[in-house]
This record gives sequence, structure tokens and C-alpha cells, in this order.
Amino acid sequence: MTRHFLRDDDLDPVLQAWVLDLAARLKLSPYDEKPLAGPRTVAVLFDKPTLRTQASFASGIAELGGFPMIIDGSLAQVGVRESISDTARVLGRQASVVVWRTHEQERLEEMAAHAGVPVVNALTDQFHPCQALADLLTIREHRGDLAGQTLTFVGDSACNMGHSLLLAGATAGMHVRVSGPDAYRPDETVLAAAQKIAAETGGSASFVGDPYDAADGADVLVTDTWVSMGLEAESSVRAEVFAPWQLNSALLAAAAGDAIVLHCLPAYRGKEITAEVIDGPRSVVWDEAENRRHVQKAVLAWLLESSTPVEPVETRGAGS
Ligand code: NVA
Repeated sequence: MTRHFLRDDDLDPVLQAWVLDLAARLKLSPYDEKPLAGPRTVAVLFDKPTLRTQASFASGIAELGGFPMIIDGSLAQVGVRESISDTARVLGRQASVVVWRTHEQERLEEMAAHAGVPVVNALTDQFHPCQALADLLTIREHRGDLAGQTLTFVGDSACNMGHSLLLAGATAGMHVRVSGPDAYRPDETVLAAAQKIAAETGGSASFVGDPYDAADGADVLVTDTWVSMGLEAESSVRAEVFAPWQLNSALLAAAAGDAIVLHCLPAYRGKEITAEVIDGPRSVVWDEAENRRHVQKAVLAWLLESSTPVEPVETRGAGS
């Protein structure tokens, strides 16, 4: 069966640990795994702006021995010029994997249903699982074992990062608290899914309205832009509504004395995070940005494990 990485809970706790271990190993020895040797092609398609995602997938795919075929979504116009299912069938004949940044999660699911090759979520409105994995790797590097640590996300808890951290953190056995205005609570089904996972892993997942209660004693503080891509028209309303959830020195002081700060970037200093915090000694955002490449390589290696071209029948068993 073709594997996909569409949302964080496509990796169970064992697989997630396997991917993080491989990512850590590839960070030390970047050219150790060549599942894309050939080079095999990976289609990387963007319906929304990108910097880190394009850069990290392109360099990571090259390091795995493959070729990144970057496709500008404004030219492809998936779902407008051509249906998602037809696009999927076409890409699946040219590429070994399809990586897609798009809008609704359902679009990605439709791509996965028809591509015939693994599909990776490079961000949707609902989830950003590659970023959450990079966050976990970064926490592990700076603070050790993930299980039992408290991660607090402040800001738009209904956005892709809030959702992905709930699921990925719970899978890792962390205590995940998301905090934001009541009108921007995480999707109830995602929160419930995270709580179900946490019940198995010994972690927890909760929405905590008050940012200071949420940050109290936390090991990791995370935020994200208040204005996710596509919501620019709401900028001024959001700047007002989210102001009490700014990640600033006062909020950091409520966390553990050695807490670290994460931000998936791009960051807007003076809005969701102050310059003092993101450019300060507790911030590990540049390691976090680098780690995108390492975790994505590990995800691709996992996906390709199940889709390596089958050895021709006549050569099977040869050499034994
Ligand atoms: N929530 C943000 C994440 C950016 C990487 C957005 O969707 O724009």
C-alpha cells in the first residue's frame, strides 16, 4: 500500500521516533541514505508562498540522490485548469513522490487518492506536519527526551501549526497546551484526536485560554504568525485580537528558567513575538529552520521504503 504523510498522526509513536532518529543521523551524515538515487524525481508543488519549504525540500531531495521538480501552483492551477485527480495521475507518472503546499486538507487527500505515489503535506490550512517534526527534532537536540516535556503554543490555535503541534506533541508523549482567543480555539476533532493519542503515550493535550496559565513552567514556548497565508484581509482585526498572546519577555518569564523558544517563520517582530525574544538567547529558530531539511529527508526515506521499484522477476534471487 502506498504510504502518505498528510497529517501528523500518519506517524504513530514508534514511526515518529524512527523518523526523528533517522533525521538526527542524517544531520550528522547527510549523504548516508540515497533512496532517490537515479536520480528519481520528486514533484514539489506550491499553491501558496514559500521560502523554507522550497529550499529545504530542494536541498534535501538532492542530498537523497534525487531531483526536485519545483512546480509553481499559479501556473499549474490545480483544480482550476485541471482537476486534482487528473493532475495527480499525471504527476504520479513523472515523479516518485508528490509534495504539495495547498489550501484545504481535502485537496491533499484527493491528490493522495489518485497519484499512485506517496504524497507529502508541505502545509495546508489545517496542518503543517513537516514543521512540527522539525520542531520536535529541535526540542530533542536542545532539551533531550520529548516525553513528559511541556510545550505551549500561543496565538492562533486554530491554525495549521496549532493543530500539528497538538497531534505531533501528543504522539511524542509531550504535554501540549495551546492558547489563544476563544474564537480561535483548535478544531474540536483535532483536539480530541490529540487527547486520544496522549492517553496512549502518557502526554496530554489541552486548550488553555489564559496565556500566562498556558506558559506557566513550560519547557518550550512556540508561536506563529497571527495572519496565516491567505488571511491577509484580516490583518488589522487579528493584530488587535491576538495582542494579549504575544510571545514577549513577560510571557517567557512565566515559563521554565531554561525554556526554549520556537517559531516556524516567517516572523513578524513586534506582532506575535518581540525582537528581544526571537533574537534572544532562548530562541532556537535557526536550528529549527535547518531541521526542516533533515526531518523531510527522513520522511521521504520512510515513504520510499514502501515504493522502491520492484526488482525485475528474472533477476530475483540472483547472487544467492
Ligand atoms: N500558519 C502559517 C505557517 C507558515 C509557515 C501559515 O499558514 O501561513
